Amino acid sequence: MTTSHENHNTAPAPSPQNIYDDPRFFEGYRTLREQDTGLNGALEIPAMRGLLPDLRGRAVLDLGCGFGDFARHARAQGADRVTALDVSANMIEAARALTHDPAITYLHASIEDCVTAQAAFDLVVSSLALHYIADYPAVVRRVFDSLKPGGTFIFSVEHPLQTAHPVGWVRDAEGNKLHWPPDH
Ligand SMILES: C[S@@+](CC[C@H](N)C(=O)[O-])C[C@H]1O[C@@H](n2cnc3c(N)ncnc32)[C@H](O)[C@@H]1O
Repeated sequence: MTTSHENHNTAPAPSPQNIYDDPRFFEGYRTLREQDTGLNGALEIPAMRGLLPDLRGRAVLDLGCGFGDFARHARAQGADRVTALDVSANMIEAARALTHDPAITYLHASIEDCVTAQAAFDLVVSSLALHYIADYPAVVRRVFDSLKPGGTFIFSVEHPLQTAHPVGWVRDAEGNKLHWPPDH
């Protein structure tokens, strides 16, 4: 999973944000994934993979593909072709370096602005990326348009408490706790 230190600023995130092209953040995340010290391997990857349909012969789209692990997994499971995109140039460069498969296409593009073919995919997957998106309904519409009829959309997001804006308790004038805002 992502580390929580990405949230430790108070400025509103630009849209689309691109924290993975911050060299320090990117190296921290790469280390976390290489050393498997996050919860990805323990929780998220098994949960997501347990939801997958039969991938043989399928056309797959991965939104926020990171290092391309899922794209390669999908091909290993028999997917016909995989399109995988990420807003981070660092991520796309690393994914391309790790992949030698002409049936995987990596796009340096944001989920918000990417142009994908209509009704072209059997499966759209997004692991731990959609919590970065401000306009969730627009993404879902885009995903729907990119899926063939009867296609599947599987995604995970970080729990709102993980991404909570670090304001802490909001209090009234007397100092009584009112609430702890879970987002911006
Ligand atoms: C926690 S990583 C997960 C990477 C990969 N899905 C995985 O599970 O290994 C989140 C990824 O989403 C990408 N991302 C975040 N916001 C994005 C956006 N608006 N458009 C495309 N990619 C985005 C980041 O650059 C990063 O690679």
